[in-house]
Amino acid sequence: MLRVMSVFGTRPEAIKMCPLVKELAARPGIESLCCVTAQHRQMLDSVLEVFGVKPDCDLNIMTPRQTLSSITSKCLVGMDEAVERLKPDLILVHGDTSTTFAGALSAFYHQIPVGHVEAGLRTYDKFSPFPEEMNRVLTSHLADMHFCPTAGNRENLVKEGHRRNLFITGNTVIDALKTTVQKDYHFSTEALNALPYSEKKVLLITCHRRENYGEPMKNILMALRQIAESRQDVELVYPVHLSPVVREAVDQYLRGAPRVHLIDPLPAGEMHNLMARCYLVLTDSGGLQEEAPALGKPVLVLRRETERPEAVAAGTVKLAGIVQDDIVTMTERLLTDRRAYEAMAHAANPYGDGNACRRIADAIEWRYGLRPEYPEDYQA
Ligand code: UD1
Ligand code: UDP
Repeated sequence: MLRVMSVFGTRPEAIKMCPLVKELAARPGIESLCCVTAQHRQMLDSVLEVFGVKPDCDLNIMTPRQTLSSITSKCLVGMDEAVERLKPDLILVHGDTSTTFAGALSAFYHQIPVGHVEAGLRTYDKFSPFPEEMNRVLTSHLADMHFCPTAGNRENLVKEGHRRNLFITGNTVIDALKTTVQKDYHFSTEALNALPYSEKKVLLITCHRRENYGEPMKNILMALRQIAESRQDVELVYPVHLSPVVREAVDQYLRGAPRVHLIDPLPAGEMHNLMARCYLVLTDSGGLQEEAPALGKPVLVLRRETERPEAVAAGTVKLAGIVQDDIVTMTERLLTDRRAYEAMAHAANPYGDGNACRRIADAIEWRYGLRPEYPEDYQA
């Protein structure tokens, strides 16, 4: 049996890797192992529960206000024990977090091949997103198999000199959405059932990125406050990330504003179905930029750049930036100009057809001689 160990630790990695862990487990020639770093504790556990995944190993590294060095070093040390005990033939990492980079580096130290899921995203700005851009560049150099969500991501890797084992698979987040979004979904968070989805415009907000800490986050939160205070026709729902830095900023600049619902992070199923029902998404998250187009929801990105140009090209995502007036103006437009809203609110699927996990598992089987045919690429 080929022992494939998936390593992840944060909420988005878990949402995008759990479907793959399960797909690999269904392959007769593969033993699917799962090692969580628990870079996120509660937010990770919530996702594991939704998908019913039980890790084989839990490094339990999270501490309050953890630094980048502490995450990376604790992951590296913890991985030594995990690799020794679970003896993987291939290690899979996902995306661009500190867990991703440390997981790939540890695999290299143990001379175990690395597969990088969600490979090839780039902004070409070393400090934005920080530290994610450098995490993913470094991980590409450590990786032996690159699972690119889109043809553009593959192109980025080719330009950087990566030539072998590049697969276009779509993004596994669409696989996850297929299992979570339901037409007549009933929220277990009662307040979400009670929101006036048809009488008012429900804006779904998230904001957590390190490069937005400080002044940018203040600007973003003040923009949200201005929108909430000036418009009777909106309700803002903001599941606030557990980072104390984010929570302090939200308490300082947004708490107490009218029509603003500050809630704890939602389980993935609740979040995905809320997104399916809301009017508009404002976010600095990466994952939401991939999910919202599939659900036909416009997204205003609270950042200066994005590594997801496919969603911008599809017309469902626009960069709003980090300046208060710009965010307010762009939001106002989508609240008042029906044509501008309709132009963005259409379902588009640049990130996949929900079969990314199947393609990744096929590619692994092919590389290890368990399948004769080269896997088909995803075509948008
Ligand atoms: C991390 C990733 C980022 C990803 C984001 C997804 C890095 C450097 N950053 O950023 O790429 O977009 O996750 O959300 O890898 N906390 C809890 N409980 C939790 C989760 C977090 O209390 O379940 C608190 C802790 O105090 C922790 C802090 O949040 O120290 C920050 O977590 P951390 O993983 O360092 O950074 P994120 O901003 O979450
Ligand atoms: N998400 C969630 N609950 C929340 C907020 C987000 O389940 O309260 C999901 C969201 O739908 C997406 C993922 O978490 O699937 C995105 O994670 P996050 O924004 O933390 O990280 P990023 O994508 O920016 O790396």
